[in-house]
Amino acid sequence: MLPLLLLLLPAAHGIAQLKYRPALTTEPLLEGVTTTSTFVVDQPRCIFKDYDNAVIWLVVALDQATSSFNNTARPETSETAFQGFPDPVRAYMTLNATLGSYPCPKPEGDITVLRVGSETSCTHDVTRPTCNGPLPGPGPYRVKFLALEGSVPVAETGWSMPITLIKAKPLSSISTAGSGHSADMIAITTILSILFAILLAGLVAMLFFWGSDSCGSSSTFSKPESVTVRRYNTHHVYDQPAARL
Ligand SMILES: *[C@@H]1O[C@H](CO)[C@@H](O)[C@H](O)[C@H]1NC(C)=O
Ligand SMILES: *[C@@H]1O[C@H](CO)[C@@H](O)[C@H](O)[C@H]1NC(C)=O
Repeated sequence: MLPLLLLLLPAAHGIAQLKYRPALTTEPLLEGVTTTSTFVVDQPRCIFKDYDNAVIWLVVALDQATSSFNNTARPETSETAFQGFPDPVRAYMTLNATLGSYPCPKPEGDITVLRVGSETSCTHDVTRPTCNGPLPGPGPYRVKFLALEGSVPVAETGWSMPITLIKAKPLSSISTAGSGHSADMIAITTILSILFAILLAGLVAMLFFWGSDSCGSSSTFSKPESVTVRRYNTHHVYDQPAARL
């Protein structure tokens, strides 16, 4: 009887607290699980299966603003608009999906993730308050899923652990940064060696043609000479035996 009462208690408050907490995915991804402006969480599969008519929203909040987020907040208003985040809006709502988008059980082998911050087209478009726009800084952020039936919140997950993004490197530090530096150096060295090889090949080719050209010109100059000399010689050679015969 007591467990049953405890189960009913949250329902009496109007919103069910689900045990699940969203988390960064462990799926292997080509792009990083976190970048400078995005992060990837697992889809809430088999979490909201009792809420067929609900729309599942993702709430993205500044780490320190989770306690002040009010579940009665409406998604499509300026109070929860991505364009106002992180100031004055401390938490925005995005990635709304019906339960049909999160089939349960998840098909074997499917990568079922959500990339938060992947939509750049609506970053500054105030007519799209639920934009899944790029995150404005390294955070940390926390996220939770919230199920709304109409405008009524019916169920929510717990908040995720704080999620910190990769810090964008200031331009001045990139030239001295370890891996970036060596990668740049390799690229520059490769390009320089290729250019040098081309230059060298060109030089060799030029020398070759120059050489054969001067040979040719000298031969055209020397040919009549040698011919005359040869003719002279042959005359001489022919004359002599002729004279002797
Ligand atoms: C949430 O907002 C509603 C009105 O929009 C208000 O009645 C309620 O007290 C608020 N809850 C909290 C915890 O601030
Ligand atoms: C998500 O919200 C947008 C704007 O509020 C709406 O146009 C769209 O139909 C919603 N999508 C789903 C799957 O609920």
